[in-house]
Amino acid sequence: MATINDNFLKLKAGYLFPEIGRRVNAFCDAHAEANVIKLGIGDVTEPLPGAIREALHSAVDEMGANQSFRGYGPEQGYDFLRNAIAENDYQSRGCDVSADEIFISDGSKCDTGNILDIFGPNNTVAVQDPVYPVYVDTNVMAGRTGEADEDGRYAGLTYLPCTVENDFTPNVPEQPVDMIYLCYPNNPTGSVATKETLKKWVDYALENGSLILFDAAYEAFITDEEIPHSIYEIDGARDCAIEFRSFSKNSGFTGTRCAFTVVPKSLKGKTADGSETDIHSLWNRRQSTKFNGVSYIIQRGAEAAYSEAGKQQIGALIDFYLTNARILNEGLQSVGIDTYGGVNAPYIWLKTPEGMKSWEFFDHLLDKAHLVGTPGSGFGASGEGYFRLSAFNSRANVEEAVTRLKKLIG
Ligand code: MLT
Repeated sequence: MATINDNFLKLKAGYLFPEIGRRVNAFCDAHAEANVIKLGIGDVTEPLPGAIREALHSAVDEMGANQSFRGYGPEQGYDFLRNAIAENDYQSRGCDVSADEIFISDGSKCDTGNILDIFGPNNTVAVQDPVYPVYVDTNVMAGRTGEADEDGRYAGLTYLPCTVENDFTPNVPEQPVDMIYLCYPNNPTGSVATKETLKKWVDYALENGSLILFDAAYEAFITDEEIPHSIYEIDGARDCAIEFRSFSKNSGFTGTRCAFTVVPKSLKGKTADGSETDIHSLWNRRQSTKFNGVSYIIQRGAEAAYSEAGKQQIGALIDFYLTNARILNEGLQSVGIDTYGGVNAPYIWLKTPEGMKSWEFFDHLLDKAHLVGTPGSGFGASGEGYFRLSAFNSRANVEEAVTRLKKLIG
């Protein structure tokens, strides 16, 4: 009989969002009449922008003609998309990122997990707490942790608590850590990092030889002009950071699937014999072996996000979701709930009323108001007593959710 990767047995619970889905489905089965509004998983609801749809259609037509048909594409992504990203997302902001440092993929969730393939098992890892669960679970699977304690904290990981006191932006660790996951704008708290904050991290990483895994999947929601969109806006980041970005939340691609990861050519890692090696070529090797690229059609759709019409339509989508976030924030605050985030991010992080535990509030909200959110404790021990609401829904559903919340809590 084949043996298994025992690390999987250390995983504390099912992955957070399927677990929520399971509970919601059970509720719906028992209450067929309930009109349940879902503000749990951050899944977009609005249709793909017109400019993107047109590009997808014409790419389908190209695939239908002999002279323009394409088979396997480059594993790293087509140059037309890599160039558009390099120019629009990086060079226009003064970041030194070239097209051949960008790897197109089918999602940041996959990339943040897959990147671990190229790093040794003994690296120490730090995560923000609360945290997007993928960073933790993939390190558990890779054997970089011990068992979890009662609060779900895995032995061997360094947790950086994000609390009201530190504005949900923790300081650098006191001890050296090899790999650090940072997510800004933050999922789940909606907090952002200023240039000064990111500079502290880059300085720390350069001083300690650490690698920053910077998840910027929500950068398009930044409204404050002072907030950096990329870690590469900070000097020195090319030598210590990998950045993950996605079309999911800005272009409505959660079902369409396209994302990218920037691995600068200047980034180095250490081999077992202590010499330095190039991380970019390892990731290239990994992707060429295990990934066959994103489909041509989808990459043409993603490219259209950078056309003038695409930019304008995406701007309108972002505004729409941020208005939802404002409506949720105002509604919650009007009944005395403390809320955070929702200004530069599509998530509202709220303190549960009357000191309820996160899952207790989840059940209460589902049962009494037929509303679904995400329990803060599902993102980590420091999320206990908090709850996340997503702004991804129709305006009518968000307004109805606020009416129900006011009735329940007010
Ligand atoms: C979330 O709700 O945290 C996200 O939708 C999860 C994801 O992007 O994978």
